[in-house]
Order: sequence, then structure tokens, then C-alpha cells
Amino acid sequence: MSNGIGIVGAGMIGAAHAFGYRNHLSKFASRLPGLNLTAVADPNATLARQLAQSFGFSRTVSDWREVVSDPEIGVISVALPNFLHVDAVEAALAAGKHVLCEKPLALSASQARRLYEQGKSSSVCAATVFNYRRIPAVTEIRNMISAGELGEIVNILVQFQCEYAADPQLPHSWRYERNRAGPGALLDIGTHAIDTARFLCGEVSEVAGAVSTISIKERFLAACSTVGHNRVELSSERRPVDNDDVMSALLRFDSGAQGLFSTSRVAIGMGNTLSFEVFGTKATARFSTQSINQYQIARFDGSGQTPFATVFNRPSSPNVGSMLPVPFDGVAVGYAEVFGFMIHDFLNAIAEGRPISDGTLLDGLRAAEVLDAIQASADNGGPVTVERSPV
Ligand SMILES: NC(=O)c1ccc[n+]([C@@H]2O[C@H](COP(=O)([O-])OP(=O)(O)OC[C@H]3O[C@@H](n4cnc5c(N)ncnc54)[C@H](O)[C@@H]3O)[C@@H](O)[C@H]2O)c1
Repeated sequence: MSNGIGIVGAGMIGAAHAFGYRNHLSKFASRLPGLNLTAVADPNATLARQLAQSFGFSRTVSDWREVVSDPEIGVISVALPNFLHVDAVEAALAAGKHVLCEKPLALSASQARRLYEQGKSSSVCAATVFNYRRIPAVTEIRNMISAGELGEIVNILVQFQCEYAADPQLPHSWRYERNRAGPGALLDIGTHAIDTARFLCGEVSEVAGAVSTISIKERFLAACSTVGHNRVELSSERRPVDNDDVMSALLRFDSGAQGLFSTSRVAIGMGNTLSFEVFGTKATARFSTQSINQYQIARFDGSGQTPFATVFNRPSSPNVGSMLPVPFDGVAVGYAEVFGFMIHDFLNAIAEGRPISDGTLLDGLRAAEVLDAIQASADNGGPVTVERSPV
């Protein structure tokens, strides 16, 4: 198989993929001979060129199909708007290419299931981007839970609160249309919170109830092309917003634990914040991306005032000693570095000829099944059992 890398979609997150490949490429020189940064695809030629030049990709093309049909390309990152994920991943798998698809894997669980089935019967490595799993503190808490250090998990509060859409003057885009994005905050950022809840507490069996709010009901179209959450000049034409700005839900896990989930894209002051508190019978652990280099743990001491201890990143923290150029106590990791850990895991799985272990297509499918149930509960106002397809 050819070892050219192609990124499809040169918008906001395409750059994080490019940064990850650039940083980890040389580590695979002997195991994936000829691995190289081949092409960036985007109909916005300026964006594609800027990304290719910044990170050293050889050429640009205007559509994802040209990357999928390129015989020199064997590794593809899908960083397209949500509604294009299924077509691009299906075509990449059919062409025998390794594929790393942005979350959400698809707009619905039934679409995600199609991709999962296709991936299962293919010999390539196929993965869903769940970058927040790779944060050293998050992985460490998960390892402690698996080792029983927190005892039985009783409940989790998990949130993804963002400010990116709080400005009504931000242009309308694919993100605000249920047709092209699926649900709003729920699918865009809630996916990460649900994946984190699953990563820590296992499968969700039931959504006991959910509530959805659209707080900014229409937005102006951009007067020019736009990327990510950028502010640009607006036209005078308005379009309705028909997916959620805020979504909250009450969850039940297979284990019997309960979960409280909330996500918002209009949370003023919150930046881009994933956070959780997970409560066990022996200890409580808490984490927020606002303090990404640490977590806190309170191990029950019977005093009635069990204190939290803060644990900072250190060389033995997951991914720190092995991946960071400066792996000393308390040295910070950033968003793009963590994103690179995901790219590294993907390339490593390809080099070893095995499926990726974290951020599989099944993880993408399982998250989609929970999101479908949350949306159904918000639509119908009652409890919804999570329809988990057999694998
Ligand atoms: N993992 C994360 O933390 C994270 C963060 C942000 C976005 N995302 C996901 O990444 C995806 C892209 O989001 P974004 O914010 O970068 O969006 P964006 O709108 O900034 O970029 C999407 C790009 O795709 C391009 N595109 C559209 N049609 C195309 C085609 N036929 N061929 C090639 N390119 C095409 C657009 O021109 C645009 O530049 C979404 O699925 C989003 O959910 C993930």
C-alpha cells in the first residue's frame, strides 16, 4: 500500500491533523517507509494552499474524492463538515485506505453502524477522532477506575461548555442546520463528553430524560466563505437555527451508575471546557480542560472532610514520558499535542497492522447510539432506552 497522507477538509480542525502528522512523521520512517505528506483537499483553494504550505504537504486538490482515488495516498484524515463524513469514509474504506474520521462519525447511529460494519470487514485501520481520551490526566483517571482505585462508580457529572456560538453576530454555517450538522451542541461537542463518560464509566443503557434549548434562533449568512467559528462580514440574509445550543440529559449506565450530562455552545466565559467529576465508593476524581495538566482526587479518609489532592503531569503520566519533547514534572501539554497523540496512535496501529484500540469505529457508533437516545428523549420528553446494536 502507498504511504502518502491526505487530509480532506482544510478548515479549523484540518490544521490540527496536519500538525499531528508533521510532528510524528519521522518516527515511522522505518516502519512505514515512504510515509509522506502528500495532499490537502478543500474547495477553498486559499485554505488548502495555506495548510499545505504551513505543514509541508506536496499538493492541493479541490475535493475529497481526488484524495480517495489517488493511488499514492494510503492514509486519509477526514476533517469535513459532519454531513460529508459517511460518504468520504465509505469511499476511503472501499478504496482500501486507512482512515481517521473526525467526530461525530455520522449524523445518526444508523449511518455510523454502516461505517462500523464496513470497517469490520476491511483489513485497513479505521478510527474515530476522540482526542480528549488522550489527555494524560483523563487517561490516568480511567486507569485508576479500571484498577478499582475509586471503588464502584456511583455517578458522574460530565459537561462540555463552550462559548463559540454565544455571539449572535457569528455567521450561519453548516453547524446550525440539523440537515448538515445533525444535532447542535449535542453532536458537535456533546460527542466528546459522552465518549469521555463511556471511557470512564462504560456503556450507557438509558436516557431518563433530556432537555434541549435553542437560544439564538436565527443567524445572518456570511458575505464570504468562512472557517470554523470565525467572525466574518455578514450578508443581510438570515437563516433559522434548527439544532440545539444547549442540551442536558440524565443517564443510566449498564453498571447501575447514573450520569448527569450537559453541553452548551453559548456558555459565556467557558471557552472550550470539557470537565467531569466522577464519584466512586472509595474516591472522587475531578478534571477540567481549564487545568489540563492536573487532576484532583479525594480518597475517602473517614474524617468527614476528605480533602482533594492535586496530581500534576509527571514523566510517568500516560503519554508524557513517551511523547513529549520536554517530559519533566509539571511541564504543560496543549490541545494540539494531545491531538498529535491520537495521530501517533493511528499511525502506530497502521505500522503494527492491527486495529486502533481507543477511538475505534465502534466507539464512534456507541457514542452515536447514546446521542440518538438523548435527542429522542429531548424530542419526546420521556425516557429512552439506548438501542445498542449487536457487534
Ligand atoms: N476533534 C475535535 O476536537 C474537533 C474540533 C473541531 C471540529 N471537529 C470536527 O471536524 C469536522 C470539521 O470541522 P471544522 O470546524 O474544521 O469545519 P470547517 O467548516 O472549519 O472546515 C471544513 C472544511 O471542509 C471543506 N470542505 C467542504 N466540502 C469539501 C469537499 N467536498 N472536499 C474537501 N473539503 C471540503 C470546507 O471548505 C471547509 O474548509 C467536523 O466534523 C467537526 O465536528 C472536531
